[in-house]
Amino acid sequence: MSADDFVVTPWHVEGDIDYDKLIKQFGTQKISPELLERIKKITGEDHFMLRRGIFFSHREMNRILDDYEKGNKFFLYTGRGPSGHTHIGHLVPWVFAKWLQEKFDVNMYFQLTDDEKFFSKPNLTLEETKNFAYENALDFIALGFKPEKTKIIINTRNIQTLYPIAAQVAKKINFSNTKATFGFTNETNLGMIFYTSLQSAPCFIEDKPVLIPLGVDQDPHFRLTRDIAPKIGKQKPALIHNIMIPALEGPGGKMSASDENGTVYTTDAPNVVKKKINKYAFSGGQPDLEQHRKLGGNPDIDVSYQYLRIFFEPDDNKLKTIYDDYKSGKLLSGELKAILIEKMNTFLSIHQEKREKAKDHINEFLFENK
Ligand code: TRP
Repeated sequence: MSADDFVVTPWHVEGDIDYDKLIKQFGTQKISPELLERIKKITGEDHFMLRRGIFFSHREMNRILDDYEKGNKFFLYTGRGPSGHTHIGHLVPWVFAKWLQEKFDVNMYFQLTDDEKFFSKPNLTLEETKNFAYENALDFIALGFKPEKTKIIINTRNIQTLYPIAAQVAKKINFSNTKATFGFTNETNLGMIFYTSLQSAPCFIEDKPVLIPLGVDQDPHFRLTRDIAPKIGKQKPALIHNIMIPALEGPGGKMSASDENGTVYTTDAPNVVKKKINKYAFSGGQPDLEQHRKLGGNPDIDVSYQYLRIFFEPDDNKLKTIYDDYKSGKLLSGELKAILIEKMNTFLSIHQEKREKAKDHINEFLFENK
């Protein structure tokens, strides 16, 4: 690990992340109160993920808004590496992207990088990552995107469209750039080395500015894209970053789709959700009831509380009551978990129904090569 005791790269996240330090390390901008105010004014809404700092950092969000106010529309782009079923944490940037799409009435592209996960995961076959791409697409569609304005790109399926753009990008990035950015070594496979140019490609799929809502771990790809964009006569992508969503078992690191127990999948049944939260969700409570009543719990490190803050309880007043009650010892860890379980299962029962329906609509969303 680095001297900072945390590591954030697209393929590896570890440690207790200090987001202010990360902003400095990556060279991004913190979302300022002025920017928050500006977004609120334009959209007419104060989104809880912005207000609570779940989205905390950006690159050139102001330029996107300047253009927008002059009547120049941008488009949205985000993506997912299909290494397994979708988990709750993945939905954070997608839900926010959907809100942006609605508020700004813009096109949206969603990239599923079946090739990337085949390259980066020794145990996955291309067949498996392709299947997960379809599974993940269902979760994305289930969130309610409009097919007229939303296209899903699957790398192996849409390579014909992506390749000419990726080639432009690849020519401008040399081996030492990628090594420095991603920490590649002589053992890294060739697919990984070329891959960043494929993640860049959708930035240039329309001749308009692009805004990318994304987990901050993905920023390094777009740092490269931003460096090369002017060299190929294109505008730099603008970004808005969300924090990493903690794994059930504790703060530090992100929810990993390969760690079964540390993860709630969108496909989990209610009893499975209940079992996982009760058994694995890291608690900020005291070891026994008496001490908890006396000393109170620590919501800031309690994963159940964090999930409520990040996703499941948009109402600030309700969240504050939970925070205060837990801190004072009035609310027990088991009771806090019960609140989360109930919220998650309510969300998932609706989501799973929509996910089933999405199976009949997937073709309306898949990008067709021209
Ligand atoms: N590499 C990303 C992942 O592993 C997937 C991805 C592709 C992506 N394009 C993106 C993520 C654009 C954010 C924005 O999840």
